[in-house]
Amino acid sequence: MISDMTLVTGILGLQKKDSFSKIIMKNYIYLKFNDTLEKGFKKLKGSFGGVICIVDNKNKLLGTVSDGDLRRSILKGVPLNSKIEDVMNKNPTFIYSDELKKKSLNKSNINLGKTMDRPLIIPVVDKKKKILSIINSEKFLDILVKKNHNYKINLKLKKPHVLIVGGAGYIGSVLTSKLIKKNYRIKIVDKILYEKNSLKKFNKIKNFSLIKKDICDPEVQINALKDVDAVIFLAEIVGDPSCAAKPEDALKTNYIALSSMANLCSYMNINRFIYTSSCSVYGANNNSKNTLDESSPLNPISHYARMKVLSEKALLSQSNILFSPTILRLATVYGPSFRNRFDLVVNIFARDAHFKKGVKVFGGNQWRPNIHVEDVANAIIKTLESPLNKVEKQIFNISNDKENYSINELAKKTKKIFKGCKIKTLKGAADKRDYKVNSKKIKNAIGFNANYTIENALKKFKKIFESKKIKNPNLKKFSNYDSLK
Ligand SMILES: NC(=O)c1ccc[n+]([C@@H]2O[C@H](COP(=O)([O-])OP(=O)(O)OC[C@H]3O[C@@H](n4cnc5c(N)ncnc54)[C@H](O)[C@@H]3O)[C@@H](O)[C@H]2O)c1
Repeated sequence: MISDMTLVTGILGLQKKDSFSKIIMKNYIYLKFNDTLEKGFKKLKGSFGGVICIVDNKNKLLGTVSDGDLRRSILKGVPLNSKIEDVMNKNPTFIYSDELKKKSLNKSNINLGKTMDRPLIIPVVDKKKKILSIINSEKFLDILVKKNHNYKINLKLKKPHVLIVGGAGYIGSVLTSKLIKKNYRIKIVDKILYEKNSLKKFNKIKNFSLIKKDICDPEVQINALKDVDAVIFLAEIVGDPSCAAKPEDALKTNYIALSSMANLCSYMNINRFIYTSSCSVYGANNNSKNTLDESSPLNPISHYARMKVLSEKALLSQSNILFSPTILRLATVYGPSFRNRFDLVVNIFARDAHFKKGVKVFGGNQWRPNIHVEDVANAIIKTLESPLNKVEKQIFNISNDKENYSINELAKKTKKIFKGCKIKTLKGAADKRDYKVNSKKIKNAIGFNANYTIENALKKFKKIFESKKIKNPNLKKFSNYDSLK
């Protein structure tokens, strides 16, 4: 291990108090050249976008293997008991320890490797190429840029490549925007059933690609999974009425395509797989005093919700050392998106309060948990970025615990924002779903908290309608059922 002192006068210009240990990666993963691929998979499990250093018996650096290298080898049919040296990158990025003592740095100081998926690490080696320590590239570059004005190297750190199936939809388009802002590489597969322009503004972005195809096609599935590090599966026929209108299409996408993608991921070692289930699985389940948690009994009352239960089971049954899915049971989502939906209760109320000056309430005493679409995207990202052992094989409710409301209360909230809005109550609940949920589990596991409120969303919709950004909210594309029936 290089001492702190070595670097005090070196290129990083670190002072002792800067704690050099910040950029050194402890407990780094090494394997011997004759270890197997299978051992590599096991070692990398949970280290999202990880890299293994391959060494000889004297700890000399021979190469590196990333999780991407391992996955590509499986696609090429390399057996799991092959030697890891057969698939390693023999020309990795590294730096000689002497270079770190110099006052300035230019391209010749770092040995830039040939192929770099993501040079997340830079091994520091002695003259004989024996590994002394491993530097975290991102933190290293951060310090260099801040402290060394001569710094001219662009190592092009690449963030993981995330596949979002159904990424052009209501939740997917908001999520895509947030992940692109965070520099993730994004691949979308979506057959664009509704809004054609939800991803338009990303078309020119280098780290973005869109495959306009049906995820039910096995060829599309295999192509989609090439070169990705994680999958977020949102593509479905969404909602009770839409699934009732297209029951077979729903079965194909929501259950069969999902199960098949999970199988492929499990085969290809794409460990991170996030699936958006729904609190609809609780169905007619009102336990008026207590909120439901993930262990509460399920009582699905629609084709859509029954398929969610089936899909959850299919995912969990497929999990193994190479595949660790996370299931997020979303409350009813609300708020503006790049693909707006006016078939969700808060959004319908906002639309009708503005354009019709009144909302219709059927029944009204049914309880519903709610969550803003921005919070859903944040919850997905938080899950994606959390240590795998905290989220693998878990089911989490995603709701705003302060926003379990009856439909009557939602109507009253709408009336407060849209002055003059009338509430018309009709007998009998058209929708029998009735439940309150809590999201304590995800808060305790990874610290996710919902921050947006229904009031935020109603005010935002009011602005959008007043500015005439949406002139006709009754167009088919704003309703899944109207588009599909
Ligand atoms: N919006 C909610 O209130 C809510 C609540 C609970 C759970 N969810 C879940 O969240 C996920 C996303 O929902 P959303 O509200 O964004 O819905 P959405 O309908 O806006 O998005 C679904 C996307 O999937 C695409 N798609 C559908 N079938 C496809 C296929 N065969 N191949 C490729 N693309 C296909 C559609 O074109 C659409 O862009 C779904 O799994 C849904 O069950 C949503």
